[in-house]
Amino acid sequence: MEKIIDENKQGESLIIEAKEGNSRKLFIESYGCQMNFSDSEIVASILSKEGFNTTQNLEDADLVLVNTCSIRDKAEQTVRKRLEKYNAVKKINPKMKVGVLGCMAERLKSKFLEEEKIVDLVVGPDAYKDLPNLIAEVDEGRNAVNVILSKEETYGDIAPVRLNSNGVTAFVSITRGCDNMCTFCVVPFTRGRERSRDPQSIIEEVTDLWAKGFKEVTLLGQNVDSYLWYGGGLKKDFEKASDIQKATATNFAQLLSLCAEAQPKMRFRFSTSNPQDMTLDVIEVMAKYRNICNYIHLPVQSGSNRILKAMNRLHTREEYFELIDNIKRLIPDCAISQDMISGFPTETEEDHQDTLSLMDYVKYDFGFMFAYSERPGTLAARKLEDDIPEDTKKRRLQEIIQLQQKHSLYRTQQYVGKTLEVLIEKPSKRSNDHWSGRISQNTVAVFPKGHYKVGDFVNIKITDCTSTTLIGEAVGYSENN
Ligand code: SAH
Ligand code: F3S
Repeated sequence: MEKIIDENKQGESLIIEAKEGNSRKLFIESYGCQMNFSDSEIVASILSKEGFNTTQNLEDADLVLVNTCSIRDKAEQTVRKRLEKYNAVKKINPKMKVGVLGCMAERLKSKFLEEEKIVDLVVGPDAYKDLPNLIAEVDEGRNAVNVILSKEETYGDIAPVRLNSNGVTAFVSITRGCDNMCTFCVVPFTRGRERSRDPQSIIEEVTDLWAKGFKEVTLLGQNVDSYLWYGGGLKKDFEKASDIQKATATNFAQLLSLCAEAQPKMRFRFSTSNPQDMTLDVIEVMAKYRNICNYIHLPVQSGSNRILKAMNRLHTREEYFELIDNIKRLIPDCAISQDMISGFPTETEEDHQDTLSLMDYVKYDFGFMFAYSERPGTLAARKLEDDIPEDTKKRRLQEIIQLQQKHSLYRTQQYVGKTLEVLIEKPSKRSNDHWSGRISQNTVAVFPKGHYKVGDFVNIKITDCTSTTLIGEAVGYSENN
């Protein structure tokens, strides 16, 4: 692989990996969660062995792949609009082939080939290793589909090709699928049952990233706290494992320690945590290692016990508070963020008030907030009427967002006057004279560039803030540099 520096649409310089001798061009685009972006890097790696290098130009592509998201109806609509755009390009360049990857591919399967005449290829999230065969089919003029979900596949043996990389931060997948069956969520249907990746291969990937100059890794999974390696297989089959497999199994807290010790200067983050699966030992490991960032993305979805139950979130509001208290006790400066859904079926004003009061208790650093979108096939869609009027969902969502903005500002204001370590990632969007990076707690900080460069760990004295960004001045390299 050689490295080429390219520019993206925003004018940021990107490091593109390209293999010499490859002549076909792949344009790959990702929507939805971080896992999709990470999967696209696996796909690019598989295809680099098939003669494809990536291109940033749709018009140049021999093959266009779109890695899709089904989480809300709006996410699917966005992808459909992109398919229209590809169709327009295909009219000028009829040799271009179009493939749909990811959750929409899994959900809609071969329907895509019938409904969307421009799609040549449909590949579900567990079938990317079959891409060489599927592309050979397409090259011969046939459409190709593989949406088989796997019990084993973790792509642990594939070294991803980093796409749109800043060369500093990277994602590393550690689990696939989800067994939680939250009633609103399509993920268990599109990504299959939960399985974990071999810790050895995770450490190897992390070590390789460090050797290439990366400074921060985010361990990814739909539910990272549930990570459990016992030699392969589904999480749900752990009970059937042999005694020796059980005795030598690795859980998430152990994996975090392994990572933190294997690369003591690499920063580690992880996402997403689920309150029902997060254990005290994970928080203790975070507290023990300075290179594990003090930040937890801990979606709660609702503050009402009745709604939590209807969502099949297996904890109460009180248990969630207990977890928050434990986090703040063991890591007082730990930042916490949320995902919240407004207007789940049967949600009353009282339930909504419970959500707002839960937010008041936690005062999240930031959050990702959504109006409920019914997804076909989920338990909620089958059992519950989508009975909250759209304008009520929107109004409640607005109230949640406004409260979050207030809490975000409260949190960022606490940093003013403090000196914090920032890892420099890229130039600030607003000003080319400033660097942008993140503090351990994941909040973005910007400051004048000085003599520092991308990838440096720098101590920043925070002088001002907005609800989303810290503004400061560099006072020197941090001890980690
Ligand atoms: N555990 C996953 C969750 C993926 S979905 C993870 O890795 O983050 C991300 C968020 O989308 C969920 O936490 C939830 O808040 C929201 N979401 C999921 N299904 C939804 C639906 N049907 N309507 C609205 N929001 C939804
Ligand atoms: Fe979805 Fe719940 Fe899993 S939100 S991804 S079913 S933890």
